[in-house]
Order: sequence, then C-alpha cells, then structure tokens
Amino acid sequence: MMLTNKVCIVTGGAQGIGRCIAETFAKQGATLVYACDMNIEPMAEFADDYDNIEATQLNVCDREAISHFIETVKAKHGRVDVLVNNAGITRDNLLDRMSEQDWDMVMNVNLKGVFNMTQAIVPLMLDNNQGSIITMSSVVGTDGNIGQSNYAATKGGVIAMTKGWAKEFSRKGAQIRANCVAPGFIETPMTKDLPQKVLDYMTSKTPLGRMGKPEDIANGVLFLASDYSSFVTGQTLKVDGGLVI
Ligand SMILES: NC(=O)c1ccc[n+]([C@@H]2O[C@H](COP(=O)([O-])OP(=O)(O)OC[C@H]3O[C@@H](n4cnc5c(N)ncnc54)[C@H](O)[C@@H]3O)[C@@H](O)[C@H]2O)c1
Repeated sequence: MMLTNKVCIVTGGAQGIGRCIAETFAKQGATLVYACDMNIEPMAEFADDYDNIEATQLNVCDREAISHFIETVKAKHGRVDVLVNNAGITRDNLLDRMSEQDWDMVMNVNLKGVFNMTQAIVPLMLDNNQGSIITMSSVVGTDGNIGQSNYAATKGGVIAMTKGWAKEFSRKGAQIRANCVAPGFIETPMTKDLPQKVLDYMTSKTPLGRMGKPEDIANGVLFLASDYSSFVTGQTLKVDGGLVI
C-alpha cells in the first residue's frame, strides 16, 4: 500500500482521470480521499463502493466554499497530505474566434482554481511540515496546440507556478513537494468528442501507438503522491506515450 495514513484531496474527481486517481488512491490504502467536483451525482455512485472515498460537491472557483471545506477537513483530520489539482475544462477555438468569455472561463477553472485550492491547503501542510501537491498540466502546456490558446496558457502557467511553489513552500525546510503531470491524449469524456481524424493523427504521432488510459495517468500521480517520490519536487512528469520527447 503506497498511501497508508494519507488524507488526500482530488479535484475534478467525478469522471475521467480524476475519478481514476481517486479510486487508485483509495485502493492504495489512503485514510480518506475527498473526491471533489461540481458534479456530485457520478461520484456518489462510485464512492459508495469504497469506505475511504468521500464524494464532495465543490467548485474550485468558489473561494468561500473551499475555505469552508478545508475548515471541515482540518477539524476532522488536522491534516491534508496530498492535493491533486485535476479539475480542468477546454473551450477551444482559433484565436480570431475565441470569445473573451471562453478565455476567462478556462483561466478561472484551470489556473485560478489551482491557485484557490493550493492557497487554502498549504497552511495545513505547513502546520504538519509535509505534503505533496500534484497539478494536472498537459503536453499542450509545454508544446502548444492549434485552437487552444486559453488552455495552453493555463497548462503552461501551472508548470511555472509549480516550480515557484517547489521553492517557496520548502523555504524553512518543510517537506512540501509540488509537481505536475503532463498527460498526452487520454481516453476520457474530455476527448471523446474530438474528431476521429484528430485522434488518429495524435495516435500516429505517439511512439507507443495508442491513446493513454486514465490508469496510465493515475499511476504517475500515485508515484508523485507517495513517499516513493520523496526527493522529487518542481518537476513535470510527462505521461504521453512519447508524444513529446
Ligand atoms: N483527457 C486528456 O487527454 C487530457 C490531456 C492532458 C491533460 N488533461 C487534463 O487532465 C485533467 C482531467 O481531464 P479529464 O480528461 O479527466 O477531463 P473530464 O472533462 O473528463 O473531467 C474533468 C472533471 O473536472 C470537473 N470540473 C470542471 N470544472 C470544475 C470546477 N470548476 N470545479 C470542480 N470540478 C470541476 C468536471 O465536472 C469533470 O468531472 C484536466 O485538468 C485536463 O485538462 C486531460
């Protein structure tokens, strides 16, 4: 068991990669996994199968709700060991057609949502002198993509923020680590509506010759969440079948 005695929070935990991370953490013996999402219904269904997953309705853009949630976690456990900033959205369009609203929405969830969650939880990690923060980036955050100016800016932004946090949170010797995972193209509800020719093209560009599965990402996140990565911080782990080398 890789996560024994750890209290974990996973945002965007209702489906896709986030759900798989929550279930993987639960199977790896976490004390409790808070699967947080705006969309509570799918979580309520799968969380019932585990004693150690708690489905929590939470919008990462709602700072007041986050603060209230963290107070509850603090009162119950006095600690958060692992935060996975996974919630994310896309609103794709070529730059000349991208609305300000779509720009702002993606910034708010993918970038400010990560700031909101991390800012609320780090004081508790500092109290306990340890913690692991993992934020979901993307190969688009390192290499860009047509029609994803907003998304690429957020996914590149979290990598930069994470490098700063790796230095900032450990200033007084605290064992608080911050890392990113950058998935390639993964089979989830987020990618299911992409045109088949785009998926075929991406698969053909991927040395391992397939799309990734949520489990591929969850296993990378598990490593960074666990003590097996206790000397790894400020890094971005690409889990992309070799798409970006
Ligand atoms: N699927 C891919 O190919 C891929 C590739 C690279 C990176 N990613 C990143 O991985 C993460 C998960 O992607 P996925 O494919 O599982 O997506 P998904 O759309 O299947 O799931 C995202 C989840 O986030 C939740 N969410 C959205 N806005 C939220 C908010 N404001 N507050 C709380 N929850 C919110 C949604 O309800 C949903 O359950 C995202 O950050 C995404 O950008 C995905």
